[in-house]
Parts: sequence; structure tokens; C-alpha cells
Amino acid sequence: MIELGVNIDHVATLREARKGVEPDIIAAAKICELAGAHQITVHLRQDRRHIQDRDVELLAQVLQVRLNLELAAVDEIIGIAHRIKPAVVCLVPENRKEITTEGGLDVVTQVKRLKDVVSGFQDKGIKVSMFIDPELDQVDASAETGADYVELHTGAYANAADVDILGEVDRIANAAARAIGAGLIFNAGHGLTIRNLPPIAAIPGLNEVNIGHSIVSRALFLGLDQAVEEILMILEEFSL
Ligand code: PXP
Repeated sequence: MIELGVNIDHVATLREARKGVEPDIIAAAKICELAGAHQITVHLRQDRRHIQDRDVELLAQVLQVRLNLELAAVDEIIGIAHRIKPAVVCLVPENRKEITTEGGLDVVTQVKRLKDVVSGFQDKGIKVSMFIDPELDQVDASAETGADYVELHTGAYANAADVDILGEVDRIANAAARAIGAGLIFNAGHGLTIRNLPPIAAIPGLNEVNIGHSIVSRALFLGLDQAVEEILMILEEFSL
């Protein structure tokens, strides 16, 4: 089965709009889990604009499914992740002014440092994913760091004009094949929806997708459990 990680940052964004307690992020995570999600994904940003340290601590305690913590490879956040020990960390680029994660991590220019970051996590039993653009040099560099997974950034695909969509799917499929050949597990995410998911789900070897904004948006109208279930139905259709 192609697995689903639900990114619940957007639930925390709504809560932080009032700096209160609603909507309850733990309730959201548990509803996703009950609906069949395989993983809960959160991004503890340096500016703490949505997910807070306490959220990560509580999620690590109450989840039965995996917790995937997205983070920038900076000492402060790495230290928090070492202490909380999520099942997986996903290294992402972070730019303070961006609205969402724009583009993948540039692994090529920092292989040496990232090798140490990866082994530091793996020594603690934490698996490591690299969130990268679907480019062969970034895949090769990710393999060199010793990472367990690559999550290929599907943002350019999701935003592509009709004429460019097939080219973007090819780019992701080529990078995926290169990753699998190098012994990496291939995940994908960013900008995926019930409409644009099928061509990505059909790429051979896909292990997991992480989806946030569309699920949380559709949850307003359908309920969170239904919004998770409709994605799971598509993934099931494309699973072996
Ligand atoms: N995967 C990663 C690494 C991300 O940073 C994000 C966005 O926070 C997602 C997946 C989910 O993207 P979206 O919210 O567009 O579904």
C-alpha cells in the first residue's frame, strides 16, 4: 500500500490565528489516524508560526502511527528532534519570508555537513528523509549522505500548466528510479490533491505521499475523516 502522511500544520495555523487552543491539533491527528493515515507530519519551523514545541512533544506521546517531523538542519531544532525522537525526520529548506516550503533542500552543496546530521539522527534510531527537487544530482547527493528516504517535491508538478504536466511527471519518475536504484526509498509531497494525485501514485516504487493543505481545506466541507479517506481510496487504487 502506498502510505499517507497527513501534514497537520494548517490546523495549527488556524489555531495560531487566535493564539488559543482551537482547533485542537491532537484531536486532528487522532482523527487522521482513525481514518487510516499511516503517518502524521508536522514542521517545527524556527519562527514557530504554526506547530509549537509542545505539539511535537504531545504528538510523540499519543500517536500510534509514525510521527514525521520536518525540520531545517539547524542546531536548535536538531536538538529538539534528538530529544523527542520522532520515527522519521524530513530535512527541508526554510526561508523566513516564504508562505510554504518553496523548492527542495540543496543537498549537493552541503553533503559533508548533512552526512553528520543524518548519522546523528540514525544513531538515535530516527530515520531520515531529504525533501529535494526531482533532480538527479540532488538524488545522488542524498544517497551520499546516507539518508533513508527522499521525498521528491511535487510543487512544480502541482503548479505546472497543462502542456508541462507530462514533463513534470517524467522528471519525478526519473528521479524516483534513480533514488530506488541508489537504495533510497521514494516518497513524494507538496501541492497534491485528489485531482492531481493519480499520475504521481502511478509512478513505480512510490512508498508514501505527504499531503496537508488540500486535506485540511477539504476537511472544512467534508470533515477531516472523509478528506483523509478519499485520498486513501486513490492510493489504494494505485497500490500493488
Ligand atoms: N512534504 C513536505 C516536506 C512539506 O514541507 C509539505 C508542506 O509543508 C508537504 C509535504 C505538504 O504540502 P501540502 O500542504 O501542499 O500538501
